[in-house]
Amino acid sequence: MKALVTGASAGIGRAFAVSLAADGYSVTAVARGAEGLEALMVELGAGHDYLIADLATDEGLRVTAERLRGGGYTLLINNAGTASHGDFAEQSLESALTTLDLNCKAVVVLAHSFLGSAARGSALVNVSSTLGRTPKPGTGVYSASKGFVIAFSETLWHEQKPRGVQVMALCPGVTATAAQAATDVPAWLVQSPQQVVDSARKALSDKTGPVVLTSRANRIFTAALRLLPRRAALSLLAQPATRPAVR
Ligand SMILES: NC(=O)c1ccc[n+]([C@@H]2O[C@H](COP(=O)([O-])OP(=O)(O)OC[C@H]3O[C@@H](n4cnc5c(N)ncnc54)[C@H](OP(=O)(O)O)[C@@H]3O)[C@@H](O)[C@H]2O)c1
Repeated sequence: MKALVTGASAGIGRAFAVSLAADGYSVTAVARGAEGLEALMVELGAGHDYLIADLATDEGLRVTAERLRGGGYTLLINNAGTASHGDFAEQSLESALTTLDLNCKAVVVLAHSFLGSAARGSALVNVSSTLGRTPKPGTGVYSASKGFVIAFSETLWHEQKPRGVQVMALCPGVTATAAQAATDVPAWLVQSPQQVVDSARKALSDKTGPVVLTSRANRIFTAALRLLPRRAALSLLAQPATRPAVR
């Protein structure tokens, strides 16, 4: 069994790599920085490899897609993602476009390379976010990119079902990683990367899908927000107390 995990050197991606390796997967870890990838390889031991690639660039996507095509992978975790915070009109257009390149374009390109040769029993996990369901002012491009990942994954789930290939949009809520201090949201909403991965792997083995929220609290919070009128939900999510942290 071979798995390719993007953004595998930190946070949720790293937890995926460690969990999969412990279950006998041979893991290919992808990220930009060599240091984090080398540290991961030391932790995983023999039988795993890594690829240094910036997935927000055409060249990074080309080498990763090439590795995926015909590489015998049975699992792709499209996890690498980025966010920019603040009012859209005040942000640089460049950072918004980089978010789209990494969160959307890379997911599409790598899904295409993987699914072209995926055998029955394979699985594709596209990491989205609860914000893909409940867009949050101050994270407009990020929320929209994660909404894209959900819609894309739902349709792929349906298309791939007859081929016996599972597709999932994984929607973590606030998860304590280096990218997410999670200091100003209630503790009951915050998960560890390990909890997110455990939930994803259980959903894979139970064939739950196509959209998986990773905790009961996230499911309740998201469902409640979606019951509210949109204006009220947007005002609530825009509150400064939650604004910088919720992803
Ligand atoms: N943390 C949360 O609260 C939360 C909530 C919902 C959804 N998510 C989603 O979960 C995923 C993982 O988030 P995280 O918090 O675990 O992230 P993280 O801790 O910031 O780790 C990001 C990983 O992605 C890699 N990466 C970043 N930019 C990259 C690029 N351009 N090309 C290749 N690799 C890149 C990083 O390594 P290098 O920097 O070395 O490239 C690192 O391995 C993301 O899609 C995020 O949107 C996170």
